[in-house]
Amino acid sequence: MPKLWLAANWKMNKTVSEGQAFVGRLVEQIPGLIKPGAGEVQVLIFPGLVSLQSVATAARDTTIRVGAQDCYFEAHGAFTGEVSLPQIKDAGGSAVIVGHSERRHVIGEDNRLVAAKLRATINAGVLAVLCVGELAEERDAGGAFRVVDEQLETALAGLAGVTERTLAVAYEPVWAIGSGRSATVPDVEEMAIFIRERLVEHIGEERGKDVAIMYGGSVKPGNLSGYMSIRDITGALVGGASLDADSFAALYREMEGQ
Ligand code: PGA
Repeated sequence: MPKLWLAANWKMNKTVSEGQAFVGRLVEQIPGLIKPGAGEVQVLIFPGLVSLQSVATAARDTTIRVGAQDCYFEAHGAFTGEVSLPQIKDAGGSAVIVGHSERRHVIGEDNRLVAAKLRATINAGVLAVLCVGELAEERDAGGAFRVVDEQLETALAGLAGVTERTLAVAYEPVWAIGSGRSATVPDVEEMAIFIRERLVEHIGEERGKDVAIMYGGSVKPGNLSGYMSIRDITGALVGGASLDADSFAALYREMEGQ
């Protein structure tokens, strides 16, 4: 059985103390998180950058991993407001979300910038969770596969050193994020098969089949198990339903029950 990933993307929510309290409450709900290597489900929390270190410290004696929601591709220098991979690692982060749709469509990151960040993350030996997904109008126009193909192509072309330790892909249809309108299981399955094929093509059969593919977009307790029944989906990236520790614990149990 592959390892299953349950990732919390807190976006621009939670203070330092709220982040620490979340970890305490989650561990209370899921005591198995304290035993190293015990669980099949790997929890990954992406807090806001100011809380990364404090959440990592709160999670120190657990199996929970912590990461950043974004990074810059240079290691240091005159890039006001940006945060580098060495800084993220030093603060206790071991993963980075790359190319989240809010970075692409709200902040304006293009495929080339996403590719540079992905390369830097992989070269730093940090797990990159590369987000791909189409807008509603792109799906309605029949362009969902073309958009995801392009996002994967520009991000993965010519990349070396990719393994399941440095890359995971999250399929997040933009229209399903924070909208309460989750994608159907057959739609996600079709896209997951497509992403798997593209991964194998870009990084080879051996490594391409081991890279985790997560689903994200209005995942909540009750609908997670449908997505987890898809063969190529081995994780979920959760926004809204990850903010409350009890709801996140319910997702953990739902995933573990698979
Ligand atoms: P959502 O967000 O679960 O609130 O839809 C998912 C995400 O943006 O990663």
